[in-house]
Amino acid sequence: MKYLFANWKMYLDYDESNILANALANEHKKIPESVKVAVFPSALSLYPVAQVLNDVGIGVGAQNIFWADKGGYTGEVSAEMFKNVGCKYTLIGHSERRHQFHETNHEVRQKLEAALTVGLIPVLCVGETLKEREENKTEEVIEVQLRAAFENLSWPVGRELIVAYEPVWAISKGMGASDVGLPCDEIEAERIHILIAKMVKGILPEVDPVVLFGGSVRKETVAGYLSQPHIHGVLVGAASTRLDSWLEIMASAIN
Ligand code: PGA
Repeated sequence: MKYLFANWKMYLDYDESNILANALANEHKKIPESVKVAVFPSALSLYPVAQVLNDVGIGVGAQNIFWADKGGYTGEVSAEMFKNVGCKYTLIGHSERRHQFHETNHEVRQKLEAALTVGLIPVLCVGETLKEREENKTEEVIEVQLRAAFENLSWPVGRELIVAYEPVWAISKGMGASDVGLPCDEIEAERIHILIAKMVKGILPEVDPVVLFGGSVRKETVAGYLSQPHIHGVLVGAASTRLDSWLEIMASAIN
């Protein structure tokens, strides 16, 4: 099984999201059963996008959830609310949330538990900054993120456990061609994926984790990442927000 997940971030507005979702729905027959495709639109666009894509077997997920189920939390949206409008997945702990919104490992854990409680499949994002990599702290940072998320958790039987390894330095800085992040060599990505799988197994021995790679994945690089045995799929931001580039990524991933 290969996973092709599209993180639309705050790149697409309501109309743009709906146009892209409808265009993707028209292409769904090209997706073989061995490939899982999911998109993560903005909270605002999620409901109409889910209406279109759930019918054609393309998953839909939230980019972020709040940990409480209901209450006086102005501006927040709960896991349950996302589930109710057709979400199957949720990203948790994306580096843009960790670094721009100061989301802590503790909050990430609360969100993960909320996702599990309502039946969403969490996609936990982990990864080191450039500074942490230069200081040789990559493994340590990832281990702390994984332990905070998964230690002493009883994982629901049969629920997928998905981790996205997204080195912060590799993530695109915007939607433009020149906004690409620093390149992460596929061999290095594979090394970290093996490490993540081992760490997760050490914490939750009964679960087989799915590990995705994210960070400036483009049509030119996707096949290289997917050729690595421990890279089960990709989480794509900028290059997933235009129909042509996303279809090219899907085509190279499928062939
Ligand atoms: P990118 O984003 O493909 O634009 O680098 C990936 C992500 O942050 O999920």
